[in-house]
Amino acid sequence: MGDWIRMLFRGRPGWMSALMLFCAFMAFLYLPWDFFWKPVAVDEEVWFGIMFTGWAAKVAEPFHWVVYAAGAYGFYRMRPWMWPWAAVYVAQIAVGMLVWSVVERAGAAGWTMGMVSAAAFTGLAALLWRARPRFQPHHRSLRDRYGEWALVTGASAGIGEAFAHALAREGLSCVLTARRAGRLETLASELEREHGVSTRVIAADLADPAGADAVADTVADLELAFLVNNAGVGYSGRFDKQDVERLRRMVQLNCVAPVVLTGRLLPAMCERGRGAIVIVGSIAGRQPLPLHGVYSATKAFDLLFGESISTELRGRGIDVLVLEPGATATEFQEMAGEIAHPGESAEAVVRVALDALGRQPSVVSGWFNWARANAATRLLPRPLLALIARDVVARGTPREMR
Ligand SMILES: NC(=O)c1ccc[n+]([C@@H]2O[C@H](COP(=O)([O-])OP(=O)(O)OC[C@H]3O[C@@H](n4cnc5c(N)ncnc54)[C@H](OP(=O)(O)O)[C@@H]3O)[C@@H](O)[C@H]2O)c1
Repeated sequence: MGDWIRMLFRGRPGWMSALMLFCAFMAFLYLPWDFFWKPVAVDEEVWFGIMFTGWAAKVAEPFHWVVYAAGAYGFYRMRPWMWPWAAVYVAQIAVGMLVWSVVERAGAAGWTMGMVSAAAFTGLAALLWRARPRFQPHHRSLRDRYGEWALVTGASAGIGEAFAHALAREGLSCVLTARRAGRLETLASELEREHGVSTRVIAADLADPAGADAVADTVADLELAFLVNNAGVGYSGRFDKQDVERLRRMVQLNCVAPVVLTGRLLPAMCERGRGAIVIVGSIAGRQPLPLHGVYSATKAFDLLFGESISTELRGRGIDVLVLEPGATATEFQEMAGEIAHPGESAEAVVRVALDALGRQPSVVSGWFNWARANAATRLLPRPLLALIARDVVARGTPREMR
């Protein structure tokens, strides 16, 4: 509980945390009461200094709710869109307070009260305006924050390749691993040429029970600061039609390899008191996914594993993040035997991850995926979600595998 409270108030000054709590109070207690219980006859709302009453006030309340809910979330996560939005909104309140006081209480009393409250809100607006850097993504480079070397699994394609580019751009030297050595060599030359970083290529099969240990042995001489557990595959189809050996390899790759690599590299990070671990999960891990059953279970494993150790490591200088992409335009669908469907770019997904690293234990990329992963899975019963998912996933599954 103490940890949770520390986490809640971490990363922003006290006055901003107070604003966050006020927004949460308004969004979760006051405005629901105002909307659902307060009689229409006595309802009042002030917008831009003008007092609305009765039904006009009632109808306007959901807009206030959106403002305060966005404020609570924006301060909680310190989202970049809070600037200049929060400052402008508070400046609008300052003007509104002046207008309202002068209109409601004529004479010197109205002006005095209006000026005092407008001055207070103007000061708050100025503070929020000046707080811009606090809402910006991290400004220290990843190399400064975590150290020199990164290990990226599954770097020969898709999201892993995009991670390698993004990390090298931040000055990190990269160990690149996957099975296709040729592709890794080409990528390594690109990173060295474009970003001036060092690289090392390790061809390894992480679905082999000895694969992850072999990779960890090969990097034992390096100070690994950043681990991206990205290599993973899907396997589309009805469970009784699937090949058990292929499923076994998938579980080994998606679940066992991240555990072994994290377990082998983490102690040295803990000793140094800094490091980063990204585990690439999927929104598929948020719910049962018929026709992708074992895959969704492996990704649920990744999510729970990552979020658990993220909490264990809090306060020890190690940032752990589970990245949960939705459909992404990579070789994944083809490898999983799915019918092709559009997805986000791997680069966009990686940007979301690097922005969230150190701020939260897991992140879903894309607002639509976020709504599916959070709203739907929390509001609907799991059996119903599974039924809906079966019909959606069937559209991407070849007929002979349904
Ligand atoms: N694309 C999506 O729609 C999507 C959505 C949600 C989550 N994800 C997750 O994102 C991660 C990356 O997938 P991606 O979309 O970038 O797919 P991708 O383009 O197919 O890349 C997969 C990477 O994993 C490597 N890999 C596969 N089997 C391996 C093995 N046995 N040993 C070592 N490396 C292996 C591949 O390299 P080699 O073939 O050269 O070994 C490749 O570099 C996966 O964990 C996946 O579950 C993807």
